[in-house]
Amino acid sequence: MVFHVVMAGDEQEFTDALIRILQDAHAGELAAAYAYRGHARSLRQPDEKSEVLRIEEAEWHHRNMVAMLLDVLGARPRRRRELLMGSIGRFFGTLCFVGGWFGPMYAAGRLEATNVGQYESARDIADKLGWDAAVARLEEMTIEEDRHEKWFGDRCRGHWMLPFAVRMFGWQPPPAAYSATRPE
Ligand SMILES: [Fe+2]
Ligand SMILES: [Fe+2]
Repeated sequence: MVFHVVMAGDEQEFTDALIRILQDAHAGELAAAYAYRGHARSLRQPDEKSEVLRIEEAEWHHRNMVAMLLDVLGARPRRRRELLMGSIGRFFGTLCFVGGWFGPMYAAGRLEATNVGQYESARDIADKLGWDAAVARLEEMTIEEDRHEKWFGDRCRGHWMLPFAVRMFGWQPPPAAYSATRPE
């Protein structure tokens, strides 16, 4: 692959940083997909269940895209990280059956916020490398993760446990996509 925007030394540094983020994202998508599979099964409302299953599908798709980008960079997923994150995902997927409704929704929103940041960073590095095809893919994934974050955020907003969770874990649902108040 030919990168033409940065100097040779920087190029290696940026490429290494990009590989690291993509490897983390690849394993993170596995954890998210397994966790959402369990989460969907634990939900009773059909519309919530189907949306979480749709989000699970999106995470598998992201994982394939990230694998493809790693392949172009001549890199592979880190095996230990994959095993660790796979176990974490399955564990949280199971926990959804005993953890109540709010906990998994909040944890998912927080996880999605992390994913948004991860793909933004990857996109910025790909941009510095002048790798336009990757920038476009990473931008798509950032937008989709942002949509996931908003969906989980919308579920959590107004819940009585939210103020405690924000104080403990820091993540706040993003502003609502629309306002319920209408102009006079
Ligand atoms: Fe994803
Ligand atoms: Fe997501």
